[in-house]
This record gives sequence, C-alpha cells and structure tokens, in this order.
Amino acid sequence: MAGAKLLWRAALVAVVALAGMVGAASAQLRQNYYGSSCPSAESTVRSVISQHVQQSFAVAPGTLRLFFHDCFVRGCDASVMLMASNGDDESHSGADATLSPDAVEAINKAKAAVEALPGCAGKVSCADILAMAARDVVSLTGGPSYGVELGRLDGRTFNRAIVKHVLPGPGFDLNQLNTLFASNGLTQFDMIALSGAHTIGVTHCDKFVRRIYTFKQRLKYNPPMNLDFLRSLRKVCPMNYTPTSFAMLDVSTPKTFDNTYFDNLRYNKGVLASDQILFTDRRSRPTVERFAANSTFFNEAFVAAMAKLGRIGVKTGSDGEVRKVCTAVN
Ligand code: HEM
Ligand SMILES: *[C@@H]1O[C@H](CO)[C@@H](O)[C@H](O)[C@H]1NC(C)=O
Repeated sequence: MAGAKLLWRAALVAVVALAGMVGAASAQLRQNYYGSSCPSAESTVRSVISQHVQQSFAVAPGTLRLFFHDCFVRGCDASVMLMASNGDDESHSGADATLSPDAVEAINKAKAAVEALPGCAGKVSCADILAMAARDVVSLTGGPSYGVELGRLDGRTFNRAIVKHVLPGPGFDLNQLNTLFASNGLTQFDMIALSGAHTIGVTHCDKFVRRIYTFKQRLKYNPPMNLDFLRSLRKVCPMNYTPTSFAMLDVSTPKTFDNTYFDNLRYNKGVLASDQILFTDRRSRPTVERFAANSTFFNEAFVAAMAKLGRIGVKTGSDGEVRKVCTAVN
C-alpha cells in the first residue's frame, strides 16, 4: 500500500513538473504587461488590497499563501479561486481548507474593480491579479517593493483531489521540501527564501501540536525547540486546544515582513518542523544564517524566488482564458 501510494505521488509530481516546464517554455510573461491595454490595473489592485489589509491584517498573509498554493497546484492559473457547487474545488481540500476567506474576498473585489475600469473588462486575468496582490501585501507589510511579471491566463479546470499530493506539509524534512520544490523548478535556496513568507501570518495548533507535547515518538522527526518558546506555545495551544486556536509563525514581529523569521530559527523558535529544519539541517543552515544576518540579501532572494514561483505552469494559449469573475470559468 505504502509503496503504491509513493509511486502515485512520484508520478503526480513528475506530471506536475512536466506541466511546469512546458508552461515556462511557452509563457511570455513580462512586467507592465497591461501598460497599454489597461494602464490602471496595477494601481487599482494595489488600492483595493491596501484597503482590505487596513480592515483586516489577515488579508496580507492570506493573500501571500493563496498565491503560493495557486502556483503549486496546476500552476499560477487562479484555479485556487474557483468555487464548485458540488465542493470539488481546491479550497475544499486539505491544506487549502484553511486559506483565508478574507484574502479570497479581497482578490474578488480587486478583480471587480479592474473589470469596472473603462476599457478593461475581460482583459486582466485573475492569475495576474493574484500575482499583483501577493506583491502588494509584501510591500504593504514592510517588505521589498518589486515589479511583477504578468501575462498569465486563467485555467479552465480544477479538482480537489490533486491538492494534497502537490503541497508541502508542516512535517516535511529537508529532502522532502527540496524534492517538491525542485519538481517546480525551484532550488533549495529559493525554497528557503520563500519560506521567509512565514515572517507574517499564523498557523493553527493542529499543524505543530505534536511537536510540543510528549508524543514525539509518533513523529517521523522533531527538530529542537527552545524551551521557553515551547512553554509559550503550550499556553496558546493547550492539549485540548480549539480548532480555531493559532500561533504566530514569526513570534518576534508577526505583522512585519522582515528577516526575523530566520533569526528566530537560530534560537530554535521555528513553529513548524518544516521551518526549524531549515536551521537544524547542516545543508540549509548557512543560507538561514545569511538571511538572518542581511535583510537586503534576503529581500533580493525572496523577490527573485517569487518571480520563479510566478512562472510555474503558466497558461498562455487555448488552455486558458481571462475569467469574468475569479470564482467561475466563463
Ligand atoms: C516550505 C514549505 C511550506 C510549508 C510546509 C508550509 C506550511 C504552512 C502551514 C502548515 C501553514 C499554517 C496553515 C494554517 O494552519 O492555517 C502555513 C501558513 C502560511 N504560509 Fe506556508 N508553507 C510553506 C511554504 C510557504 C510559501 C512558499 C509561502 C509563500 C511564498 C507561504 C506562505 C504562508 C503564509 C503567508 C502563511 C500564513 C497564512 C495566514 O496567516 O493566513 N508558505 N504554511
Ligand atoms: C548584504 O547583501 C547585499 C545584497 O546581496 C550585499 O550587497 C551586501 O554587501 C551585504 N552586506 C553585508 C554586510 O554582507
């Protein structure tokens, strides 16, 4: 059984990797893509997203995670935004079940605002709006500002079955993280930089609770955790925690996009095993040390890795369309 499951998983990863490569070869993404067709698109998205972040901070981390999950599942094609009346959409599966509804709403509002601009109806894809919004929340929370490549089409298909096979889990070790990211054309260096997104936002208790109580033996592995930090997490997530309880992914500055996430790892204050392993494993530690020591270096690596993330499985031909609304195919 386990063998068959592994094979199935390996096959899926291979298919996804192939789709990613095909997309990268044919995609013609570029900055300022809407410069003449809809010149106010980027400023409109930014102002809508900014309003929503002011109303609810959760929109910022929620949007960043939404973009990551979109790109890893079927490529950056806004398939994550599609809603199916029968519940077969990506947002009803595994890791995607905790995507932020506030972030989804902000993207839908941004799309509506762009559609309403004179001459812009039907021109700007949801996949691109998501890429713009992910860029905007980074700078809105104190991170770097950068130009974002655009020109993606929206996908026409989705199903939820694939989701649990193509997203990383909080218990992944370095080999598993590297294998999955490599299948998407991303290096270990990119993977560590992108994990820096955990500088904002939260994780629910179920994702790390086994790390902080004494049933370690049920874990495949458990990288070390600072004792004071462990005690504080036990307060946030008692053994009988409620499903809605959560902890900050960056205990020091949870609402600021900065490099303290990496500094936390140096003190064994990573919440998820997949965070802490980046410091614990000798192969990735030097990169964590460099990101912790030099925020400019981290920012540059993050921006470059986000561009690579945004090129995964891009649709530019008959396999795509510009949706009228992000929640449904045309
Ligand atoms: C390296 C492998 C990764 C793993 C194993 C992982 C896992 C997780 C988990 C388990 C959560 C908590 C979900 C919840 O309980 O609601 C989370 C949250 C988050 N992840 Fe990741 N993640 C990874 C990479 C990334 C990447 C590449 C990005 C974006 C570039 C990202 C952005 C986020 C953000 C912003 C949050 C907070 C969401 C919120 O507060 O709503 N993650 N991640
Ligand atoms: C920090 O990183 C930047 C960008 O790579 C580099 O130019 C700079 O020299 C680094 N600073 C230090 C103190 O190493």
